[in-house]
Amino acid sequence: MGYLDDEVKHLRSVIEGLDGRLKALETKATGGAAPKKTTEEIRMILIGPPGAGKGTQAPKIKEKFSCCHLATGDMLRSQVAKKTPLGREAKKIMDAGGLVSDDIVIGMIKEELENNAECKGGFILDGFPRTVPQAEGLDAMLRSRNQTLQHAVELQIDDALLVARITGRLVHPASGRSYHTIFNPPKKDMTDDVTGEPLIQRSDDNAEALKKRLATYHSQTAPVVGYYKNTGIWKAIDASQEPGQVWKSLLAIFDGDKAKASSSIGGGILSKIAHRS
Ligand code: AP5
Repeated sequence: MGYLDDEVKHLRSVIEGLDGRLKALETKATGGAAPKKTTEEIRMILIGPPGAGKGTQAPKIKEKFSCCHLATGDMLRSQVAKKTPLGREAKKIMDAGGLVSDDIVIGMIKEELENNAECKGGFILDGFPRTVPQAEGLDAMLRSRNQTLQHAVELQIDDALLVARITGRLVHPASGRSYHTIFNPPKKDMTDDVTGEPLIQRSDDNAEALKKRLATYHSQTAPVVGYYKNTGIWKAIDASQEPGQVWKSLLAIFDGDKAKASSSIGGGILSKIAHRS
């Protein structure tokens, strides 16, 4: 048994050493900056009140996993910009801080998951589901595809911190990229860094509408957190940290998955060794 124990210890230290070396090389190769791309598939949702940082973090997740980023708010705003009948109805509801009907947003997400080629690498949902019926609709959609959700991440932040974030936000409508006059200013005033196009302020980004959006969040979306707590895939992040720290907290959640996978691989090898002897 002594020999086996030593062998197990030795193998563990080899695996840990290799893992550490791999991480160090990866950090060196990327300069520790850009999100490292991975071939893993991701299926996750970001839940959080207006201004929590869903739209700030989601593009990084998209880049890391080469998946699609579906933001129901952006989809609805695109309908508003095109002045479609849905857009005209949605604008009234959005400016009043209410929620567009469950059937409409469930239909929009279903359409994207079925037809958007980017979603083949998985998806990150931002602003959906926002009600328990939407969460049930998503589960039904995934069940019919023999898939499950891997993460429901809640961005937790006190309401009092959101006024400054929302009233200072600037948006590039075509891409959904968001900036902040103080916390994340564009290089040139009111201009998108990437395209050079003008930035705008959303019509619902004012203190009055925010109050209603927050009330809607607490009454209708908070129960969605409870829904995912019951499924075991819910995790919370402190969203009051600066954006880089929030991103690190998200990476820790993804790394937790890898650790679980490698410990089960390691466990498999080790248990085989133990079984043979
Ligand atoms: P939606 O567009 O989803 O708006 P929201 O949920 O209110 O969320 P926001 O986009 O305001 O916030 P965010 O968390 O993305 O914050 P961001 O990263 O930009 O929905 C709009 C409306 O559409 C809804 O009210 C509803 O009417 C309708 N709708 C949408 N989905 C629906 C659904 N499923 N069902 C029914 N109706 C639906 O950050 C905000 C600002 O803070 C930025 O300026 C950013 O630079 C800054 N910031 C971000 N992170 C940090 C940080 N860590 N520190 C400092 N500043 C930060």
